[in-house]
Amino acid sequence: MGKKLLQIIVAIALLVAGIVVGTKFAGDNRATVVGDASRYSNATGSGGLLTRSVGGSSTGTVHDVRDGNSIQAAVAAAEPGDVIRIFPGTYTETVYIDKDDIVLSGVVVNGQWPVMEGNKELNDAVLYSGNDITVENLQIQHYKGNAVMGQAGNNFLIRNNNIIDTGVYGIFPEFGTNGLITHNVLSGIEDAAIYVGMSDNIHVTNNEVFDNVAGIEIENSRHSIVENNYVHDNTGGILVFITPGLPIKTTFDTIVRNNFIVNNNTPNFGIPGSTVAGIPAGTGILNMAGDQTTIEGNVITGNKVIGILITDHMNAPNVTLDPGADPSSDEIAILDNMMWNNGYDTIPEIKALKTLELVDGNVEILNVGASANSCILDPDKYITVGLKSFGTCGFATTADVSTYLLDEPAQRREIAAEDMGKRAYYGVCAGCHSYNIKMVGPPTQIIQALYMDNPQGIVDYITSPTKKRDDYPEMPPQNYLSEDVRMAAAEFMLQVKQ
Ligand code: HEC
Repeated sequence: MGKKLLQIIVAIALLVAGIVVGTKFAGDNRATVVGDASRYSNATGSGGLLTRSVGGSSTGTVHDVRDGNSIQAAVAAAEPGDVIRIFPGTYTETVYIDKDDIVLSGVVVNGQWPVMEGNKELNDAVLYSGNDITVENLQIQHYKGNAVMGQAGNNFLIRNNNIIDTGVYGIFPEFGTNGLITHNVLSGIEDAAIYVGMSDNIHVTNNEVFDNVAGIEIENSRHSIVENNYVHDNTGGILVFITPGLPIKTTFDTIVRNNFIVNNNTPNFGIPGSTVAGIPAGTGILNMAGDQTTIEGNVITGNKVIGILITDHMNAPNVTLDPGADPSSDEIAILDNMMWNNGYDTIPEIKALKTLELVDGNVEILNVGASANSCILDPDKYITVGLKSFGTCGFATTADVSTYLLDEPAQRREIAAEDMGKRAYYGVCAGCHSYNIKMVGPPTQIIQALYMDNPQGIVDYITSPTKKRDDYPEMPPQNYLSEDVRMAAAEFMLQVKQ
């Protein structure tokens, strides 16, 4: 009996202590602190430190959003430094964050997640243009455009989100410096699930991407690391691209290491005419015109067309040359990777190249086009085609580089009012419209000819687009942008020259 009483007293004491200590999250009522980190204090790994210079500061007020409330209303009320906590419920909205230093943080309670639900009617779930933004712990599903899209925000942190069938892209930071994308799970995306565009100093780690057209794409970006991701059952696993026609023309210094790149054989369901629609189903890693790409320590298996494909622009389908961009993939380094059972059911083009070089067996690594100063560490280990010009690598590992994230946050990108149109054009429109190349939407040149000096006509169209062309998908409405921004984008679109 005495023992029972003691148990009850202890239980009550713990409960009270839990309340006194303060419950940060519902359900977090354990009072006893057990264990500390001292036993790991000599560890040299930087995993936990990756977040040191990215994301919001969480120094301000906490705003709680519950089922039935609007997340956007909380964002409107927030000041830089604030945290917006989103409790379980279903939120059918587009959230636009145009302030700096905001944390958008889902709270998972007893396994129940906050769900952003686009019902295949809304275009985007979260659009941010501020710097120092965190987006975490959200389930985002059934949008038509993007789950999380960044337009020019530096120091972003996007983590622990479950993103399902959100349309064209999943996580899509564009024009950002210093960003971390980690522990997200993404599936069912029509283009790239994780799509880093025109950015610098990016770290993509510990994500799972599957059932997408492209798993992870690094495009027109510099100093990126893609590591420890599980990339399976996409059409193409990991892409490192220079996409022609964009205002930033280079991709270099990308490390693709220690990823599992497995069974990327899903039939291509990319938007017809888009660059990724040209990727053969069964591609593990595809480097198109990216320079200084180092591929190390990956497990690459079960990709039926090819394990690693290096190509220039001339040999890539659905690509038009850009005179401002170097079309070849230079300074590629293929270090030690674990590769087996790739290329077992390949495309006629690869079979023909194989025959030409009198190679037997399934090709695991293929290079097409000139590739200056490239190397492979152990050429005899794999069946390769087109690598005759590759030397032996003078280095064996990238282990000395733990991250390209910055020690201190990058300076916040400030955008002057007169740059509003430029930012909206490159941040939003250029995702689908290129100057003189057919992308998801028609080339800007054609739109200029159609609309000449009628920006209002463009504003009217993009506010509620109608289907005009059989060979293009429908354009999603841009009415989440303010009237001013739509007009500024339209004016910029009519005068942009490249
Ligand atoms: C998600 C992709 C996407 C984005 C983002 C996008 N567009 Fe489009 N846009 C399209 C597609 C697809 C079409 C062709 C639609 C059709 O012909 O049915 C199109 C067509 C247009 C047209 C041609 C209308 C006509 O009368 O023929 C204009 C103008 C236009 N977009 C402007 C813009 C502007 C300005 C932006 C940025 C604020 C923008 N678009 C963002 C995909 C996009």
